Formats: sequence, C-alpha cells, structure tokens
Amino acid sequence: MTPSTDTDTGLPLDMIIFGGVGDLAMRKLLPALYMAHMHGNLPASTRIISTGRQDFDRAAYLAQVEEQSRSFIAKENFNEKSWDGFLRLLEYVRLDVQAAPDFSALAKAAHPGAQRVFYLATAPALFTTICDKLAESGLVDQNARVVLEKPLGRDLESAVEINEAVGKHFAESQIYRIDHYLGKETVQNLMVLRFGNSILEPLWRAPNISSVQITVAEEVGVGSRAGFYDSTGAMRDMVQNHLLQLLCIVAMEPPTSLSPDAVRDEKLKVLRSLRRFGLADIARDTVRGQYAHGVSGNQEVVGYHEERNVPPDSKTETFVALRAHIDTWRWSKVPFYLRTGKRMQRRSSKIVVEFANPPFPLFPDMPGGVANRLVIELQPEEAIKLQIMAKQPGSGMQMQQVALNLDLQSAFQQRRAEAYERLLIDVVRGRLTHFMRRDELEAAWAWADPIIEGWNTLGEKPHAYPAGSWGPAESFALLARDGFAWVE
Ligand code: BG6
Repeated sequence: MTPSTDTDTGLPLDMIIFGGVGDLAMRKLLPALYMAHMHGNLPASTRIISTGRQDFDRAAYLAQVEEQSRSFIAKENFNEKSWDGFLRLLEYVRLDVQAAPDFSALAKAAHPGAQRVFYLATAPALFTTICDKLAESGLVDQNARVVLEKPLGRDLESAVEINEAVGKHFAESQIYRIDHYLGKETVQNLMVLRFGNSILEPLWRAPNISSVQITVAEEVGVGSRAGFYDSTGAMRDMVQNHLLQLLCIVAMEPPTSLSPDAVRDEKLKVLRSLRRFGLADIARDTVRGQYAHGVSGNQEVVGYHEERNVPPDSKTETFVALRAHIDTWRWSKVPFYLRTGKRMQRRSSKIVVEFANPPFPLFPDMPGGVANRLVIELQPEEAIKLQIMAKQPGSGMQMQQVALNLDLQSAFQQRRAEAYERLLIDVVRGRLTHFMRRDELEAAWAWADPIIEGWNTLGEKPHAYPAGSWGPAESFALLARDGFAWVE
C-alpha cells in the first residue's frame, strides 16, 4: 500500500540514531537498515550516525555491530558485499544526552544539506531533552523528521508532556510515532482484506458479528528486559498500543483515502468510542496474570518472580485479558476480547471474528458451537481461514465445521520485509499513514489509564498461570460467561 502522499525530498539522508548501542538498534534497526540498503531503498548518499554514551571510536562501534547485529539478519538475506557497503555508511558519535551541554559534536558530524531523520530509541524520559538540544544546536529544520519509539509515556499525562515538548520543535507532519505492529505485512493486509474486497463489508457489523477476539501470545518470557518491563507490565507494553491498533483496523469505518489523516481520523473515532471502564467493570471484565514456573518449548523455565532483576513481590502483570466494547452503531453489543501474554504455550497472534449462528435450526443434527468464523493469523503463520458448516458425506445430514484456507506464505513467494524495514522506508519517503498521530496516542492512553489505576486501587495480585499455558483460568471464564471460548 503506497499512500499518495510521499514527500521524498530527494536529499541525501542522515539517519541519526539515539540509543545506537542499545538492544533495539542492534537487534532491529540496524538489520532493517541493512536490508533497506541491500534492496536499494535508501537514498544514494545515506549516512547512519549512531550515538551513545559508550566511549567507542568508529572501529570499536563497527566491531560491536558485527557482533550484535549481524546475527539478526537471516542467512538467506546476508550478502558479504552489501554488508561491507552497509558498514561504510555507519558513523559513531559519543554523546551523553543528559550530560552534554549541547549537541555540537553531533552537529559537526551531520552532513550539511542532508535530510535528517532522528530516531529516538531511548527511554521516553529522554525525548524532551533530546529534542530541546537538537533544536538548540540548530539541527532541526523543515526537512527534519523525528521517530519516537514506544512506549510513549506511561500514562496520558506523561504522553501529553512528551508530545508538547516534541511539538515545540517539530510539526506534527514531521513526527513518526512508531508502533511496529503497523508495519507487519499481515496487519497491512488486514486493511486490504476489509477495504479491497466488498464481500465482507455488509456482514462486518452487529448483529451479524457476535464477537471478536484479538490474541497476541508470546512464547518468550521477560528475558533481560526486567528493568524496563517490571515498571511497565503487559497493559502498557502491549495492550495500549499493539492490541488497540489491531482493534482499530478491525473496527474502523472505511477511510475515504489512504492519506495519513483519512486513515488516522477513522482509527481515532474507534479509540474515542471505546467504553471507559469503572471499578466494577475492571473487576468483572479484566484479568491480570503473571507467569509462574512451568515448561516452555520442552524446557523448564522459571516463573516471573525468579527472573533476573524482578523483585520477588512484584505485582506486574505479564498477561492481560479483557472484554472491551465499542459504543457505535456498527459495534453495539459486540464484545471485543483482547488477550496478550508472555510465556504462553506458543507464539501466536490472531484475530478471530465470530459470526452469528443461523437464526433458525433447520438441521436437527447441527453441532453446537460457532458455525462461521473468520480467522486471520498474523504470526508466525500468515493465513486467512473461513470456517463454514459442511455436510459430512453419507446418507444422513451430519454436519461439521471445515475451513476454507488461504495460506498467504504459499500464495505469495516474495520476500516479506520485516516491520521495521518497511516502516523505516516509510519514514525516509515521508509516508505517515502507518504511524500514530498525537490524538490517537492520547486517546489510547485515556482508555488504558483508568484500567491501570483501577487495578492499583483494587490492589489485587495478578493470577498465576504456569509458563507454557494459555494463561489463568479466569481468562477462560471471562468468555465462557458470555457463551464464547478462546480459539487456540
Ligand atoms: C514490543 C514489546 O513492543 O513487542 C515486547 O515491548 C514484545 O515486550 C514485542 O515482546 C513483540 O513484538 P513481536 O513483533 O515479536 O510480536
């Protein structure tokens, strides 16, 4: 999908990464930039200027990149010559964002006349300082763009503060708030499924749809990120952003074009129509979980409490399930069940749209359960399945659910770009459609904040679930109460 609003400046590019030695840069950004370079998707004279506190010279930084980034590039995509060419684009500037009185060292390294893209892959607490000092050092001009990594704040108040601070120096059209789920092939395909076909649209509403499930399950645990994760939790880390963005794409009205504002206006309406949770709703319609010791991928793994750098009495949730409602004509009374967790049985992200059963039971042997479901598998498989009722061969009228199955991986043989690669190319080309606008982000926090506050007020510990399971029993009960069940 190429929105018609490209504002490719044709200038040479300085891609300036704050947090250039960090995990995200090494694991995602540099491999993504390498792929973009290899496929000729970066301007001819591109420089990647990484900044960090570490006292590296260029050679030491390159050694670090060799050691930490190279292994994140799939072997079939690796090409020694392109890699050498890519390394030649890299520069390193030592910069302690908080201690440096100004960014003159960076200004010296920047190339006159280049278009600057600042990628802020640091803790959000540094965003204000970075933007202020960039402006003071004369590095922000009308061609500059800034990319803000999530989490953007930890509640509405801090998100507003960051947006205000960044907005002092960058116009909204220069700000790219990244949610990498919006860069995933299958997520973008969801827009095509809904708005590039006409067969679904007449059915895509209450009462034809009886419920929607959105699951983002991870097999991994918290790993080495406890320092960040323990003060964040699954609601801020996943639900407020990735799951809500998926919900928006499922629930939005057809936009009038693919222009950034047309798409984001529709998503904003969904976020603003999400019903707010009071304390009673929180107690009834949300479930927090925390993984305990268990077996994951045939290996015994420790519980969250025993992970390195997690306080033994931590109440941080590693799992959330909840029932949301969108108060619009289209979605009246349709529950949206959202679920995400770490250390679940396997990695699996999917959207399940359940359709209302036939109103009249014509066939006496109709099996129970849901007759029609549309299952959109996002990862690791990429597939769209439509479950329908069919007659079993034989003389009777025995029926059974079967699936029409579209395997997108075999339907399209082309290489699939990683989310970060696609989004970085969008930034370079000035395509804002798959990035969050300020009001969208703030609306998402306005919905999430009362839930997080309510959990604090209620003071309950998250329910334990064994690592390698599908989460606590309460999550199953949440759907069973309404006559539904999670589709695994
Ligand atoms: C990140 C979260 O935004 O998304 C991580 O901070 C999570 O905790 C990751 O593991 C999941 O992304 P993906 O692309 O692997 O589904």
